[in-house]
Amino acid sequence: MAFDIEMIKSVYQRFESRIDAARKSVGKPLTLTEKILYAHLWSGETNTAYERGQDYVDFAPDRVAMQDATAQMALLQFMQAGRPQVAVPSTVHCDHLIQAKIGADADLAIANEQNREVYDFLASVSNKYGIGFWKPGAGIIHQVVLENYAFPGGMMIGTDSHTPNAGGLGMIAIGVGGADACDVMAGLPWELKFPKLIGVKLTGKLSGWTSAKDVILKVAGILTVKGGTGAIVEYFGEGARTLSATGKGTICNMGAEIGATTSIFGYDEKSEAYLRGTERGDIADLANQIKQHLTGDDEVYQSPELYFDQVIEINLSELEPHVNGPFTPDLAWPISKFAAAVKENNWPDKLEVGLIGSCTNSSYEDISRAASLAQQALEKNLVVQSEYTVTPGSELVRYTIERDGFLDTFEKIGGSVLANACGPCIGQWARHGADKKERNSIVTSFNRNFAKRNDGNPNTHAFVASPEITTALAIAGKLSFNPLTDTLTNSKGEQVKLDEPSGLEMPTKGFAVEDAGYQAPAENGENVQVIVSPTSDRLQLLDPFKPWNGQDLIGLRLLIKAEGKCTTDHISMAGPWLKYRGHIDNISNNMLIGAINFVNGKADSVKNQLTGEYGAVPATQRAYKAAGIDTIVIGDENYGEGSSREHAAMEPRHLGVRVILVKSFARIHETNLKKQGMLGITFENPNDYDLVQEDDRIDIIGLTEFAVGQQLTVVLHHADGTTDSFKVNHTYNEPQIEWFKAGGALNIIRQNQLI
Ligand code: F3S
Repeated sequence: MAFDIEMIKSVYQRFESRIDAARKSVGKPLTLTEKILYAHLWSGETNTAYERGQDYVDFAPDRVAMQDATAQMALLQFMQAGRPQVAVPSTVHCDHLIQAKIGADADLAIANEQNREVYDFLASVSNKYGIGFWKPGAGIIHQVVLENYAFPGGMMIGTDSHTPNAGGLGMIAIGVGGADACDVMAGLPWELKFPKLIGVKLTGKLSGWTSAKDVILKVAGILTVKGGTGAIVEYFGEGARTLSATGKGTICNMGAEIGATTSIFGYDEKSEAYLRGTERGDIADLANQIKQHLTGDDEVYQSPELYFDQVIEINLSELEPHVNGPFTPDLAWPISKFAAAVKENNWPDKLEVGLIGSCTNSSYEDISRAASLAQQALEKNLVVQSEYTVTPGSELVRYTIERDGFLDTFEKIGGSVLANACGPCIGQWARHGADKKERNSIVTSFNRNFAKRNDGNPNTHAFVASPEITTALAIAGKLSFNPLTDTLTNSKGEQVKLDEPSGLEMPTKGFAVEDAGYQAPAENGENVQVIVSPTSDRLQLLDPFKPWNGQDLIGLRLLIKAEGKCTTDHISMAGPWLKYRGHIDNISNNMLIGAINFVNGKADSVKNQLTGEYGAVPATQRAYKAAGIDTIVIGDENYGEGSSREHAAMEPRHLGVRVILVKSFARIHETNLKKQGMLGITFENPNDYDLVQEDDRIDIIGLTEFAVGQQLTVVLHHADGTTDSFKVNHTYNEPQIEWFKAGGALNIIRQNQLI
């Protein structure tokens, strides 16, 4: 599985000198986050102090991890770079496409059949380019990464929002879009706005029913779903050192729910124990040698308010178990107040299903503590009232908990064990009856609980809690049960009370696995064929985009002037389109179908200037493309906000749109456009937006002298023979201008390979 000890050594070798230099340039003691960020600067030059929340900085991550849904386009693009191998260690994890329906084995067999072409592609492309491939059933990306690849002081990016899970082992791990993953694998720097820092000081010690999950449920309540935006959350304090590495992983994982860039804990004895327990003692030995660099400086933690932008303090000894929801993870209820909230809000009290596991909460500790409750149910003659499912996060965990009898205990109380995959967490749950859209309640130990996320039913009230509380509520069959105080009636009519859960951080006999589900790449992939069926409707190899022809753009037709909000969802919708993520032509049939046309206020209805008729945006654009006519899209403020989905930039490029001219861009989308060789420009005067008319022919003048900071000119030729002209701005730097000229960033990388 090659966690690449040499790579880790070389990362650690540069820590001391870079951190010392950074401390001097920043002029004060450093947080752990700053140490890791400065140690991973792309330039290696640590003489600049970056302004938090302000400066954009290039970094050199150590690893890339991709899940199967997002890996498809990332790898199709990577193939365009012409590299023989990925530039940094990378892995693919097949976890998102397995639907939970019957049980682990049957569901996995069906997924292997249904997704065969996607899996074959991912396996072959991984084999060819030196990427580790984790087969379907091997586990969920973040759990597998924590067990195998996360290391203290490292930096990784992953094409999934819960990548921060690896922060539990002291890694800066950040969720990104496929385009970013592609860049890093191709050997390009990765850019991030230098984050703000939120410090969370943990004091005391967990006990009884409370678990690590309750820390983040509490933090989510304090900070809300937006409170972490643009910030890295750093946990510290004597309480932090009492938490297991996997418990810390849970907390970092759910940092995504408060919008944080990532979350992190420092290296401590628990991290060391987990590294040794997962057969990575050599990493622990290396980490021990530079321990002082793998936590923040002492002064920082003594007076955190001087070094963090915001500080929160939580006393673990006083922390109550929480249940958060419904429909949002920041509606935080201490268990003592939850029953009243259920009543007051008239939420369905009957608990239909309790679901434990997922990437967030399927550690040995989680499972053993939940199993201790299941065991009590058996011993105390309690009949479990709700359906109950267990989703192990990896085959390593599944095999070990089966060996140690926990799965058997869950099955004895009527639980079903699902595949080691995302399943119900991402709506891959064929839940019987969900189509009836009945009001009902479920509790999960997952991370997200937005409407429809789990089963597609908007009336499912999903709550998030620890595996222990989820299990207790499932035993009771109702939300309003408080296991800390309430009793239950058993099958003999007796009143019984559940004892506090108990468990082990790690198995006393050690972890075990027969087949972890890993496929190592070929030593030399030169002759490996990448498998893509030419008739596939889910996958399509990409052709390089054409370079710029060296001339100004003259006579562009207006495809759409979008009015109001135009997010990446308006530009490239999700939902049923997700299945075409690996097929640029098919997914392009959703291009801009959510954008509102300023002329008629309608979505997906634009005038085809060749016929004068109104039609769907993608079909109209295809008609222009077929006629060899270039087009332009006009947009409003913050165009492309939302996600980093690269399809929103690739689709217009694929269908022949040349320019996106808007009042302002969401920055990630603007960069994505540049990477694809598009011209993304902004009105100097936002009111010029009003000058654009439906039948205009539009020229972009000044490209022949395209230069940093130099404006371009737009000329509108109106149908009545009049013209308007105005200046527009751009933010292209020198390399980005070269991307535009070459037709895309990957074309440049490919050209460089050929030299
Ligand atoms: Fe998968 Fe849900 Fe985690 S979708 S990666 S189990 S957040």
